[in-house]
Amino acid sequence: MKYAFILGRLPALSIAEILAVMEKLKIKYSTEIISQKMLVLDIQEKIDCQEILRTMGGTIKIILVSNIKYQVLNIKKSKLKESQTEERDILSALRDKIKTETKQSNKKLLIGYNIYSADKIEQKELNQFSKLIKKNIIALKKELKKEEINCRIVMPKNYETELSSASIVNNKILEKGIDLNFIITSPCPLPEINSGQALDKEGNIGIMLGKTVAIQDIESYSRRDYERPQREAKIGMMPPKLAQIMLNLAQVEKDQLIMDPFCGTGVILQEALLMGCRVIGSDANEKQVQNTKNNLKWLEENYLSPKMFYQVSKIDAMHLAKKIKSSSLDAIVTETTLGPIYTQAPAPKEIRNNFKKLEKIYLKFLAQAKKILKPDAQLVITIPCYQIKKSKFILMPIVDILKKTGYSIKEPLPEDILGKISPTPEITSRNTLIYSRPNQIVGREILVLKL
Ligand SMILES: C[S@@+](CC[C@H](N)C(=O)[O-])C[C@H]1O[C@@H](n2cnc3c(N)ncnc32)[C@H](O)[C@@H]1O
Repeated sequence: MKYAFILGRLPALSIAEILAVMEKLKIKYSTEIISQKMLVLDIQEKIDCQEILRTMGGTIKIILVSNIKYQVLNIKKSKLKESQTEERDILSALRDKIKTETKQSNKKLLIGYNIYSADKIEQKELNQFSKLIKKNIIALKKELKKEEINCRIVMPKNYETELSSASIVNNKILEKGIDLNFIITSPCPLPEINSGQALDKEGNIGIMLGKTVAIQDIESYSRRDYERPQREAKIGMMPPKLAQIMLNLAQVEKDQLIMDPFCGTGVILQEALLMGCRVIGSDANEKQVQNTKNNLKWLEENYLSPKMFYQVSKIDAMHLAKKIKSSSLDAIVTETTLGPIYTQAPAPKEIRNNFKKLEKIYLKFLAQAKKILKPDAQLVITIPCYQIKKSKFILMPIVDILKKTGYSIKEPLPEDILGKISPTPEITSRNTLIYSRPNQIVGREILVLKL
């Protein structure tokens, strides 16, 4: 079965997360499409998409792509309903799909639809295709009515081609109907021949049809971010989605013991607990220790069964091994102290000084971490990088520190995939990944380290 993973704002991070999860779950797959918008995988076994998506911060939705082979439509003729047999196929496939999905229901059926482009397509052509689909969905509604199937269509807003997650969730489309997805690809989607352009010289595009099988629970993310009792905007709180991505890059598993030794307000610990891990948190600042305890108590009351194991205490990360049992941790996932936060890019000298100060802490922390991690454990950390111009980052010269402490950087994306999605600003010159916002000066570089 083919699954299309619709990627979040930073596609390289999303893809790295998906691949890490597939590897952890030992799911065999072949890659069909890789683009900035989506990753389409052919997976032999059935997967629990809802459960997988619940713990993945970088994927917006998962689409089960129909087995109908790649359909070809001539966009210049703009006639989906007439003459050409392959054009008819799309409509009849759509009709069949809706009917089989709704056979048992006599209630009003909700139909949402979205258009995604896996390969590059001009806005003008996308709009043309979008109009065509809209016209045909409306025609289909009338046709279904004759067969006593009543539908309400939820359309993307003007000038948009996709429904937002909020619209799909709030309208309960997945429960009360079907969220359809038209995926535009090049007419020849074979990865080795695909030119990367959706439209060929004659004006043909390829189309895949699929239904949404899982969608991100945006409300839950928002509650986990904004409703926790203790928030500390000043220290740069981590978004829960990023915490999930980091935990997935560390390939943490249920019941494993995970530590965050710079826990701040405890976002990483929270997400690890929600993944079923046991967690230890620590911070050098007593106030943060208290903040984390309050937040995890709130989590326990609102989200967890009381059996969850967590322990939070005040420890300086430079002396971890005095307090934590040696070789006891399955992974450390943490946002180290990032240094000062800026609203304007600081001078290069100031950046160098900040890096120097942090270097001392990191050196000691990494040496200590080595003692308390199990031999094959992974360590995922964020370190600061400075966005001095739009999408141009200064990275911390950390490779020497790593050599001294015996760690190496694990590249989160394999060569062939890197080649297909580069250049994208979140992939660094050393093939690590960056999480940042367009106007943010201090971004986070994510390092996956192994001993
Ligand atoms: C960037 S914050 C972590 C934010 C956290 N991820 C969150 O979402 O709340 C860094 C934390 O490191 C702590 N810290 C700084 N130096 C430390 C040290 N030497 N040992 C342990 N914690 C330290 C700070 O008190 C702060 O809470």
